[in-house]
Amino acid sequence: MAGRRVNVAMVLLIALHGLLPSSTNAALQDGFYSTSTNCTVDVEAVVRGVVEQHVSRSGDGGSGAGLIRLHFHDCFVKGCDGSVLIDPSPVNPDPEKASPANGGLRGIDVVEEAKRQLEATCPGTVSCADILAFAARDAAYVLSSGAISYDVPSGRRDGLTSDASDASQSLPPPFAQLDDLVRAFASKGFGIDELVALSGAHSIGRAHCSSSRDRIHPAVHETMDPSYGADMRSRCPEDAGAEERVEQDQATSGDLDGRYFENVLAGRVPFNSDRALIDDGETRRMVEENAGDQVEWAAKFAAAMRKMSELTGTAEGEIREFCHVTNRG
Ligand code: HEM
Ligand SMILES: *[C@@H]1O[C@H](CO)[C@@H](O)[C@H](O)[C@H]1NC(C)=O
Repeated sequence: MAGRRVNVAMVLLIALHGLLPSSTNAALQDGFYSTSTNCTVDVEAVVRGVVEQHVSRSGDGGSGAGLIRLHFHDCFVKGCDGSVLIDPSPVNPDPEKASPANGGLRGIDVVEEAKRQLEATCPGTVSCADILAFAARDAAYVLSSGAISYDVPSGRRDGLTSDASDASQSLPPPFAQLDDLVRAFASKGFGIDELVALSGAHSIGRAHCSSSRDRIHPAVHETMDPSYGADMRSRCPEDAGAEERVEQDQATSGDLDGRYFENVLAGRVPFNSDRALIDDGETRRMVEENAGDQVEWAAKFAAAMRKMSELTGTAEGEIREFCHVTNRG
């Protein structure tokens, strides 16, 4: 009897495993480049150097926020395989970058710069997907003043395909409701607590006015703090151009901190997807916990970012020579 039950459980586990669209990649390892390649430079140190050059808390040009968003958009779409970096071309006019979900990407120049330096010292060895995963980790470290710190396993391969429709399907829009968010994250193996913790990334960077338009025009939404709403309306007038943007956290837009959760509770966030986190008692409690304990939040954020970096990409793939184009062009 007992044996039979175990067998049923195992079959179920295997079946479930097969159903999950993404799982962790057993091939990834910590320190892959120093243990498993002939690369004589310290690959992670090279990436860190380039990130430190571009990213700083004060006067940050936005590359740091851009890198953290890029990493999320890379890994949630068919795993961390650098496919978000591919430019449109005659062979592939509609890559992930062409999806509305990828509007306003920043930080790609940082990845390209690290890639140039690594190709010079260690040609054909370091994947763009790994560079992006390292760079997002380093940006989070800098922007949190060291509060967010985690190791990134490596050995990812760069993907050969990139489709806008995959990005549009996997990345929730700013008008998403809580159910949509929970479903999108669950489909990648992330729980509600992880969804809430990762949303804290919206304490940095900026957003296009268009993503909040329906929350401030024609009237400020009832769930929004009225003075914040009035401020948003002046920054994002009804006729705001397609390129106009606002800081996501008006007070400390360069700090990756738990302030975001206080903003959510106070109704001072641009997107419905932020506000929706307090629609339900369970997620509201998580928001309150993160607002009350930033050290605990930083640890949860770091753990969830590492888990995100482990979403399986392609086992085949290649090491791209340039991050914006596959080697075949
Ligand atoms: C929960 C669902 C999420 C939705 C609906 C969402 C949506 C958005 C939108 C619409 C923008 C503004 C883009 C623009 O207009 O330029 C944005 C920015 C950003 N998002 Fe998210 N996001 C989500 C989760 C995440 C996660 C999990 C992370 C990372 C861990 C993240 C990191 C960022 C960052 C750092 C920015 C600022 C980018 C910059 O300044 O260039 N987001 N997000
Ligand atoms: C490292 O170099 C040695 C000697 O040239 C070679 O046999 C080996 O295949 C190389 N390993 C990798 C991972 O490139």
